[in-house]
Amino acid sequence: MIKKYIYGSPIETGAVVIDMFPENGKPDMFYEEDYKPNCLEFGMTDADVIYGLGEANRGINKRGYIYTSFCNDDPVHTEEKLSLYGAHNFILVDGFERFGVFVDTPSKITFDIGFTDSNILSIECETGDFALYIITGESLYDIVRQFRGLIGRSYIAPKWAFGFQQSRWGYRTADDVRKVVKKYRESGIPLDAVYLDIDYMERYKDFTVDKKSFPNFKEFVAEMREEGIHLVPIIDAAVKIEDGYDVYVEGVRDNHFCKTADGRDFTAGVWPGKTHFPDFLNSKTRKWFGDKYKTLVDDGIEGFWNDMNEPAIFYSEKGLASALEAANEAEGKDLDINSFFALKDKFTGLSNSDKDYASFYHNMDGKVLCHELVHNLYGYNMTRAAAEAFERFDPDKRMLIFSRASYIGMHRYGGIWTGDNQSWWAHILMNIKQMPSLNMCGFLYTGADLGGFGGNCTRDLLLRWLAFGIFTPLMRNHSALGTRAQECYNFGNTEDFKNIISIRYSLIPYIYSEYMKAALSDKMMFRPLSFDYPEDSFASSVEDQLMFGDGLMLTPVYTQNARGRYVYLPEDMLYIKFKSPTQRKYALLPKGYHFIDVALNEVPLFMRKNKLLPLCKPTDRTDNIDTSRFEVIAYADRPCEYVLYDDDGYTTDYDKPEHFDSIAIKEDVNGKLVIFSNKQIVKVSLFN
Ligand code: NOJ
Repeated sequence: MIKKYIYGSPIETGAVVIDMFPENGKPDMFYEEDYKPNCLEFGMTDADVIYGLGEANRGINKRGYIYTSFCNDDPVHTEEKLSLYGAHNFILVDGFERFGVFVDTPSKITFDIGFTDSNILSIECETGDFALYIITGESLYDIVRQFRGLIGRSYIAPKWAFGFQQSRWGYRTADDVRKVVKKYRESGIPLDAVYLDIDYMERYKDFTVDKKSFPNFKEFVAEMREEGIHLVPIIDAAVKIEDGYDVYVEGVRDNHFCKTADGRDFTAGVWPGKTHFPDFLNSKTRKWFGDKYKTLVDDGIEGFWNDMNEPAIFYSEKGLASALEAANEAEGKDLDINSFFALKDKFTGLSNSDKDYASFYHNMDGKVLCHELVHNLYGYNMTRAAAEAFERFDPDKRMLIFSRASYIGMHRYGGIWTGDNQSWWAHILMNIKQMPSLNMCGFLYTGADLGGFGGNCTRDLLLRWLAFGIFTPLMRNHSALGTRAQECYNFGNTEDFKNIISIRYSLIPYIYSEYMKAALSDKMMFRPLSFDYPEDSFASSVEDQLMFGDGLMLTPVYTQNARGRYVYLPEDMLYIKFKSPTQRKYALLPKGYHFIDVALNEVPLFMRKNKLLPLCKPTDRTDNIDTSRFEVIAYADRPCEYVLYDDDGYTTDYDKPEHFDSIAIKEDVNGKLVIFSNKQIVKVSLFN
């Protein structure tokens, strides 16, 4: 059951798609126009576990810390950080009482989950104008399902975007990209996409391609498609100020940019130098900006990533002037501890400052609003602009689109990646913990920069990270300019990388099928163990294992120098150790603790009883996957079924019944368990 409470006059965010409360009234709506609470408080018993908050820091259980929803471009994700790039205001309380809470407000909001007082959950809203949804249900899973129904169907990516993808800030020319593809193909490591970071643009101008480094771009895109590669260019939020640049000229002429209080176009520095910020909260601007993607789409591009859309601001004109003035004043002076740090702070505080966010305005279709009030909607609406445009260009075609900044509601328009992590072991664990929380908030097409964005990656770190990344829908290796080259062929012997990534390709039909079923029925692909084992009191404290898809459990190795790891089995399970896509070791392990040995080139996986796992023959690209023939692993002592979803992966007619197939274990006339499917089953490994 969902109850809605409205306080003050909330700004419409578009997060919720179901109008549960029509005009002439339903009992479960509470409307308090004159009451604007700044703080909501809930008591927590010692045993309560709090889930949710999507792309937030720290544990799957959010208890004991404080989190601020305010989309933030901060590339150092250490434990004390309060905000990352997304603002996902949904939490789930599990304990004496069980309920979900969604606070729908686009401004800053802080969740103090037992940080100040260990038994108090307090939610502080800056404005007091918000819609609050309280959701109760039979189980954690049921509450999430209801919430997901409320916010609408998750974005569905094309099937090729489930292949392995290579990215790096620093592929400067078409030849750089050709070299990456050649090396991958030569080493037999499967690959489906290569990303173009800001280097492909002309002077960091959106929707331009540098003609010197990428001559004949359209031909180059086609050449890459011949190789089975999709190119995925980046688009940044800010628009360079440059005479004659059409996006800038039209944006100024037609009032598409955010304004200062005195009506000028707001100016701030990002990659290209001085820029203006499109007012994505305005529907006309969304249409205008969205249509700009057409130039690249006409060149054959089928996927984009939207970046710097918190929005990231290096400096504003005002901020920079004041810092420079302070520096001039300091010249020749004897700076002591206070004056030196005050000066230093002037410069370090230049980027992404609250003062700047409070100094420009949107025109939300007639309503003028200060940016700080609607900050969390900016990246969301940039991605919405792109997705709505793609639908206009070709309503039957799926495009890949994902964003850095997001708010709940954006999950309908695109996916997200989790931003600038580091080549740290701790960030594999962070990736593991974020996946179920993101799924709770509707973000299914998501993943981290595998190998880590910042810092120098090592061979063992990349292999371990990939061995988890083979399960995340977005599987992309990405790294920052100036770091060690992180493509899989840059770490000596490539066989281990080929092995791990080929395992992904043998799993793609299953991963895709689970993704589609999760999207079509508001389910979670990744779940904390406690969702599947609510009676097991130990399960809620396990944060380094995840339930995955239909009856699988992931137990990634995420520590340096480990030979393997301890795992907790909430029941008897089948252990499948992938030594390669086709070679596996199996063991039936009883409920409880076990140590499993896992070499750097292996992938551990557990399966619940009466479940099936179909595997296909690995290939070098998704185009070549044969979904008519499967090998099946089954752990069954009675008839059971796996529902396999498959479609062409490109068009949008998802809901057709013919997309669902059955691979079943049934009893034959002699009571023997046999496999049954209209797919060709080339091998069955049945355990019971
Ligand atoms: C920041 C993004 O998070 C990162 O992935 C990208 O490489 C850089 N911007 C450069 O575009």
